Amino acid sequence: MPESPLPVVRTIASLRAAVQAWREAGERVALVPTMGFLHAGHLSLVRLGKTQAHRVVASLFVNPTQFAPSEDFDAYPRDEARDSELLASADCDLLYAPTVAEMYPDGSATTVTVSGVSAPMDGQARPTHFAGVATIVAKLLTQSQPDVAIFGEKDYQQLLVIRRMARDLDLPVEILGAPTVREPDGLALSSRNVYLTPDQRSMAPRLNQALRAAGEALRVGVAVSVVEARGQATLAEAGFGPIDYFEVRNAENLTRLGPGPIGAGQARIFAAGRLGKARLIDNWPV
Ligand code: PAF
Repeated sequence: MPESPLPVVRTIASLRAAVQAWREAGERVALVPTMGFLHAGHLSLVRLGKTQAHRVVASLFVNPTQFAPSEDFDAYPRDEARDSELLASADCDLLYAPTVAEMYPDGSATTVTVSGVSAPMDGQARPTHFAGVATIVAKLLTQSQPDVAIFGEKDYQQLLVIRRMARDLDLPVEILGAPTVREPDGLALSSRNVYLTPDQRSMAPRLNQALRAAGEALRVGVAVSVVEARGQATLAEAGFGPIDYFEVRNAENLTRLGPGPIGAGQARIFAAGRLGKARLIDNWPV
């Protein structure tokens, strides 16, 4: 492999040695977990990390346990050389790129499951997904022991699952969410956007447009059930299918909202649907 433009470690022991040296020098450490094939959204997390800590570690690991057998683990885009150049340009200090054997040695038998916030939406559409996410993030956090770990709000349900897991396991880390980075037409950046054909790419911003329209409708008092049905219909007309969900939920715990007015910041609208090979997800505050 060609030389990396930033230091790279591939073992837990070498990651810990690097972090320990920084700690001994009194430095704070941020972790930005990723599955690679980075885009401007990931780099915004690294930059945010640099405002929170002296050192930023980015991890790059396409985690097999968060993909169901029918999903895109093998096809998931990978380009470590490009990722490491991008990370260096964002002032990242260390790339942690372990192997599958390092993360899941033979005999691994522990899974972290988070009930409640893991259950609806992606938890229904991808029943094994969040256990894989919670398990790998728990491992990354205990391996690197950062002061703060940063996750994008595009995967808002994932952010809540990770927050709950870190609290419940008493992990001494602050979990920070960062705003979604979007294309000028509103499409949320995602490594999976490379799966879109040019036609699908032109349809994809309809997801964010439908969420914004739903937010506006809720703001003027349209009922949640009507807003959700309209959102589903808009996405179906735009060519999405299947649509996994278009739902308004409590922004803190993802429960359904009771009847009555929605307070500012109380709710969030979530949508996921497929356009060809790409499964797109997005969310919008109310
Ligand atoms: O959001 C992602 O890229 C992944 O789910 C994460 C948090 C890196 C865990 O594999």
